[in-house]
Amino acid sequence: SGAITLDQGYKNTGACKSEITFLDGEEGILHYRGYSIEELAEKAHFLEVCYLLIFGELPTKTQLLEFETHIRRYTLVNEEMKSIIDGFPTTAHPMGVLSALTSALIAFNPKAVNPEHPDELYEAVCKLMGKFLVIASWTYRKSLGYPLNYYDNTLEYVENFMQLMFKLPTEPYKTDPVIVKALDKLFILHADHEQNCSTSTVRMVGSSHAGLFASVSAGISALWGPLHGGANQAVLEMLEEIQKNGGDADKYIAKAKDKEDPFRLMGFGHRVYKNFDPRAKIIKKAADEVLGTLGVEDPILEIAKKLEAAALTDEYFISRKLYPNVDFYSGIIYRALGIPTDMFTVMFAIGRLPGWIAQWKEMRLNKEPIGRPRQVYTGSPLRSFVEMDKR
Ligand code: CMC
Repeated sequence: SGAITLDQGYKNTGACKSEITFLDGEEGILHYRGYSIEELAEKAHFLEVCYLLIFGELPTKTQLLEFETHIRRYTLVNEEMKSIIDGFPTTAHPMGVLSALTSALIAFNPKAVNPEHPDELYEAVCKLMGKFLVIASWTYRKSLGYPLNYYDNTLEYVENFMQLMFKLPTEPYKTDPVIVKALDKLFILHADHEQNCSTSTVRMVGSSHAGLFASVSAGISALWGPLHGGANQAVLEMLEEIQKNGGDADKYIAKAKDKEDPFRLMGFGHRVYKNFDPRAKIIKKAADEVLGTLGVEDPILEIAKKLEAAALTDEYFISRKLYPNVDFYSGIIYRALGIPTDMFTVMFAIGRLPGWIAQWKEMRLNKEPIGRPRQVYTGSPLRSFVEMDKR
């Protein structure tokens, strides 16, 4: 019909009403449920933020303890999942494995969750959060051919991730509070970001009343792309390449500006932030702190700073309002924490999981209709079928 407005990439189309995350791209403001990202990153723990996003309010001490205990109860992953993992080559990208394993979880948890039933919902949320952390770590253990680790009930959620990733069978694992704090902060900064590509995917898939796990599995695939969450891996690969080629940041700035060259400065630009990305500001500071505390001297951080300084004074980037985004500095911290590059986007997924869950829940409780965009047809008008021998 003639009434269709075309908005490719939904640059200016609101697809839902939401009470979860407030974002002002001009001012660089980000709030979860009314709390500023700066304050949450400073004062809250990741699980508190998960609770806040999913259930709407900061938890009391009892609610948080109950949440943690409940998640812990679901951290055992069905043993048959291991034979699925064994089917993958060790070279498989962890994001592909994570998406497949999340889909596989549905087979072991087939009961459809009614989001209007608070107990059922609570159970599904805890189940997904518990199992997701474990299978996320398994994608890495598998790539090394190492034995898989289990959740340690004496450790907290974020601490557990480090243990799940790095514990060796022969030695007890000691977590470093500096590392745990840094990871916690990174997860908080990634926890929600209103209607981004992966979250919109989760809502879209969920709008057909596909289940929570199926919707999240689709979100993982959307996150994987280098224009979205995959940018964190792409940033680090870019920085390594610049380093390998002599550290000439200006050359790469020129490449990014060249319209004949498909190269983009990874970790720069954002659909909504046109002034600065508040998450990038916090992460840049955290990167300095973490590297300083751990005594890591990473020449890549210097290249990143050179690149940023060059881009921020260049007319091309200024006129297009291109600033470093959340992915620009996060990889440098992950690297300092010993997380391998191809796991960076998995880290993003662990952080974003509560956001996906909260948005899926909101979409269902708001009884949103099935997502079904229209199009402007540009193909051939009606024509007669041509027989094979006449083509
Ligand atoms: N390097 C060079 N030029 C760029 C870049 C970049 N990183 N980003 C945008 N531009 C240019 C683009 O070529 C266009 O120029 P022109 O007006 O001359 O055609 C202009 O800036 C506007 O860009 P756009 O592609 O129309 O903007 P968009 O809103 O569709 O895309 C983006 C946003 C984030 C996909 C894009 O900036 C990009 O590809 N950035 C690099 C990848 C990246 O870092 N992604 C992570 C985003 S933040 C976290 C997340 O979502 O996961």
